[in-house]
Amino acid sequence: MDLGIAGRKAIVCASSRGLGRACAHRLAEAGCEVVINGLNRERLEAAAADMRKATGAKITAVAADVSTADGQKALFAACPEPDILVNNNAGPPFRDFRELDRQKMLDGVVANMVVAIELTQKAIDPMIAKKFGRIVNITSGSVKMPLVGLDLSSGARAGLTAFMAGVARSVAASNVTINFLLPGAIDTDRLRSNIEANARKQGIPVDQAAATRAASIPAKRFGTPDDLGAACAFLCSAHAGYITGQSLLIDGGAFPGVM
Ligand SMILES: NC(=O)c1ccc[n+]([C@@H]2O[C@H](COP(=O)([O-])OP(=O)(O)OC[C@H]3O[C@@H](n4cnc5c(N)ncnc54)[C@H](OP(=O)(O)O)[C@@H]3O)[C@@H](O)[C@H]2O)c1
Repeated sequence: MDLGIAGRKAIVCASSRGLGRACAHRLAEAGCEVVINGLNRERLEAAAADMRKATGAKITAVAADVSTADGQKALFAACPEPDILVNNNAGPPFRDFRELDRQKMLDGVVANMVVAIELTQKAIDPMIAKKFGRIVNITSGSVKMPLVGLDLSSGARAGLTAFMAGVARSVAASNVTINFLLPGAIDTDRLRSNIEANARKQGIPVDQAAATRAASIPAKRFGTPDDLGAACAFLCSAHAGYITGQSLLIDGGAFPGVM
């Protein structure tokens, strides 16, 4: 399918690995110019080189912490008026909620809620003027389904979802959409490190912990980053202009409800 976004400019935050990288790759494949981002410069440059080779697209690598004002400035210096913004960031570690002091809570809310709002503030007015804009926020299946130990992540991301609900309606008439992708268990470094930590806690081999987790998913497998990347590219496409304010689970059926 031609997604109708060739030549569009995209910023994909936190995209040198994992879910962000899969989104960036699919957008590059669709003909977008893409700014990718990460902390580790070497890994980021390698990802950019791979993406250029595979897609022929213009890829600009911005090594910066997306949670900081300077990092955000660097992203927008590389692409002042993006048509597409994919908000993504690292998630907080597993922790009993009793261990969260005020600073940790504030940091989690900044990383998984405030940063996406700040970036949206910077991107949205030119999108409205151009009558085209696509904003996709990578959140988590835990917004809908509790995950004990990831309470801060769930709370901050649910806050972002509610915050953006009104914003999405306020810009819908300008063909600017704001949606949410909710990953379940997708096979990335982050998932692997969570499974390893779990296996250590339970004193079982990592392979056993991974197999048990995968078996608990109706699809009987972990998702691939591309399962999410492809959905992201569709939500950013010319065809998705009538979809806004929606949360799309990419979880192999793990969420047990119908709505
Ligand atoms: N994978 C899943 O199953 C799953 C499920 C639910 C929610 N999520 C959420 O989805 C998001 C992405 O997860 P993932 O699995 O793709 O993680 P990942 O494989 O660990 O990749 C994280 C990416 O974010 C970059 N990054 C981290 N902190 C950054 C910062 N402050 N500024 C700029 N870039 C930064 C990393 O760059 P470096 O390479 O430089 O470190 C890397 O490219 C996370 O918020 C995670 O909690 C994931």
